Amino acid sequence: MSFTVAIDGPAAAGKGTISKAVSAHFGFAHLDTGLLYRAVGAKVAEGQDPFRAAEGLVPEDLQRSDLRTLGAGQAASRVAALPTVRVALVDFQRRFAESPEGAVLDGRDIGTVICPRAQVKLFVTASPEVRAHRRWLEVGGDEAQVLAEVIERDERDMNRTDAPLRPAPDAHLLDTSDLSIEDAIAQAIALIEAKR
Ligand code: C5P
Repeated sequence: MSFTVAIDGPAAAGKGTISKAVSAHFGFAHLDTGLLYRAVGAKVAEGQDPFRAAEGLVPEDLQRSDLRTLGAGQAASRVAALPTVRVALVDFQRRFAESPEGAVLDGRDIGTVICPRAQVKLFVTASPEVRAHRRWLEVGGDEAQVLAEVIERDERDMNRTDAPLRPAPDAHLLDTSDLSIEDAIAQAIALIEAKR
């Protein structure tokens, strides 16, 4: 049986860093599902139909260098509110979760919708100010503007009708506001170790 770790949470909470460290530690495959929505958002910004963009997604689309910007995050969160886009991406994510070596998927709805039976679910969070500061260290610019964008994106993700961002009832909450990244990783590894 495959072993799946679902890691959800708002923007810049530390999901990506924790997911990479956890997958390297256990030898699991890792899928950053936000990248799927970012790639769809980029194609839609170029004029493609959202459903076609999602259905026609190919691995090269995830290699684009412009997917990490704040604008790409906003474009992702707009297309992520469209049910047709979400449905088109479900099978790929579920197949990935069956990776024989085990899999870590990080996103917003992995524990609630994509892999409700994941063996381990983490909901990684931190205060909006801490998250915006971390993102600002990566992208630079005006920190207040970064905070405003983080809050806007979280609100859109939490308030959409389809697969809103929220912890699964059986998720472990991991608040990284006052944790070093090393401590956050160590806590995640310990939680997974306990379920193996
Ligand atoms: O995680 P990341 O910031 O790359 O995600 C970009 C956007 O993609 C999120 O703000 C969210 O709207 C959407 N997303 C989603 N479901 C996921 C992963 C990402 O709706 N599983």
